Amino acid sequence: MLTKRQLLQYVGSAAGAAGVYRTMAALGMLGVSSLTGCSSPSAVSQSVGDGKRVVILGAGIAGLVAAYELDRMGYDCTVLEATARAGGRSLTVRSGDVIEEFGGRQRVNFDDKAYLYANMGPARIPYHHRAILDYCKAFEVDLEVFTNDNRAAFFQVRGSLGDQAVVARQLHTDQRGYIAELLAKAVNRNALDQELTAEDKERLLSMLKDFGDLQDDYMYVDSGRAGYQGQHVSKGLVGDAMPVEPLGLRQLLGFDASDLWWALRFSHGVNQNPTLLQPVGGMDMIVEAFKARVGHLIRYESVVEDIANQSAGGVRIGYSHRGTTMEALHADFAICTIPTTVLRDIDNNFSEATRAAIESRKYDAAVKIAFQARRRFWEEDHFIYGGISWTNYNDIQQIWYPANGYHRPKGVIMGAYIFGEDEFDRDFALDFAKMSHSQRLEHALASGERVHPGYRDELEVNTGVSRAWSEVPFQKGSWPSAPVPIAALEVPDGAVYFAGDHTSALSGWQEGSAQSALAVVEAINKRVMA
Ligand code: ALA
Repeated sequence: MLTKRQLLQYVGSAAGAAGVYRTMAALGMLGVSSLTGCSSPSAVSQSVGDGKRVVILGAGIAGLVAAYELDRMGYDCTVLEATARAGGRSLTVRSGDVIEEFGGRQRVNFDDKAYLYANMGPARIPYHHRAILDYCKAFEVDLEVFTNDNRAAFFQVRGSLGDQAVVARQLHTDQRGYIAELLAKAVNRNALDQELTAEDKERLLSMLKDFGDLQDDYMYVDSGRAGYQGQHVSKGLVGDAMPVEPLGLRQLLGFDASDLWWALRFSHGVNQNPTLLQPVGGMDMIVEAFKARVGHLIRYESVVEDIANQSAGGVRIGYSHRGTTMEALHADFAICTIPTTVLRDIDNNFSEATRAAIESRKYDAAVKIAFQARRRFWEEDHFIYGGISWTNYNDIQQIWYPANGYHRPKGVIMGAYIFGEDEFDRDFALDFAKMSHSQRLEHALASGERVHPGYRDELEVNTGVSRAWSEVPFQKGSWPSAPVPIAALEVPDGAVYFAGDHTSALSGWQEGSAQSALAVVEAINKRVMA
């Protein structure tokens, strides 16, 4: 019996590159799914690209995936990257790093320890983002669990519950308890007799009792799920410990004013469900793994100035190198991963439809702010290991506790992660972005103080770093506002293909970038074979 490799060698000699390509596809050996069970794809795939030149614009995740896949299929690839680093929005900062925005530079003053870093771009990978996870697997990027939903973390609502931060396990428990109690009342008062048979009612009541931890009379009185009074979250040795008093129903409903219900069910979103993962040591470990394989193809500090489809076929890319020399590359194809916020200002001879698509793509303006803490007070005082506290004070929205370095003396806390608009369509992330760096930090400190009294003193304030993606050169935004791909960017414009999360239905995720790049690689392969 032929091995996969022998079969491909046979097909290669008999049918040429096209045959190899189709056979590889049939064997599941192309695209990311080929990465894991494939003995030696590059050896047999050398001929698929057959020396065709591809210039890739941007060394973010999409550009790196495209470069990796095309390179191992024999394409002659060059990646033009505007900045001095690869990764695009995947940015992990550590001691000594410098963060650049239009408004200035910040130096990262964290201590020089492997566990003291901040992912200022992507920070979580859902379990079903198979393209990016398969690359992690193939490249042996070690992963650990990232926590979104932590029942020991806090929710805090301005003007509600006396501004007190409420522990998440209490809100979840009380919300379920009251919903179950009220629905049970409706059932027992025969209000749902049109919808339910007698048997349905019995079953529903049984479900509600369990769902809300109701008493035998279907009342929600309290529940140990919310924790116990005194020092104890669980009972421990105190056999007669009493559950904490529930919030009153009206107190709970007062939460409505906060616009934070969505935060309470945040992890129900399919992209935010457990299990989420993160690379050990920082999200940029993925970028480093790609660089180890295709880093030699990247030309840094190469700013694309114009993109011109050629009448005879192919494409010419004009770019400036290190701000001085003007250079040009000719290629059979280009893969453009440049965000539309930047692309719209680059000279091109694209069709009207392509230009309109680029012009119409708007970006959000997410902001992250991180501090190094003197001690891991969230673990020591509140038993919070990773996860998120939510607040609507000063719009910082979220505080993330690190899902790494547990029990170490210090930790890097994400003191704000801000995106979106409020109920009045005010883009508060953009408001933050327009502040000076020190104003951003001050807002984050003042807001954090509401959730954690003494916060400012717990943090090493001079280590504060902020990242407002709308203010980042060659990014000018965090992710496309509308998560719908624009048709004109799904097809090539002449010899220019478009990839990046903004061309996928998974905008704002590395997975969208990776999948879009794989789709373009496949499209170019098909064109070459045709
Ligand atoms: N993917 C981004 C996040 O999870 C938007 O926050």
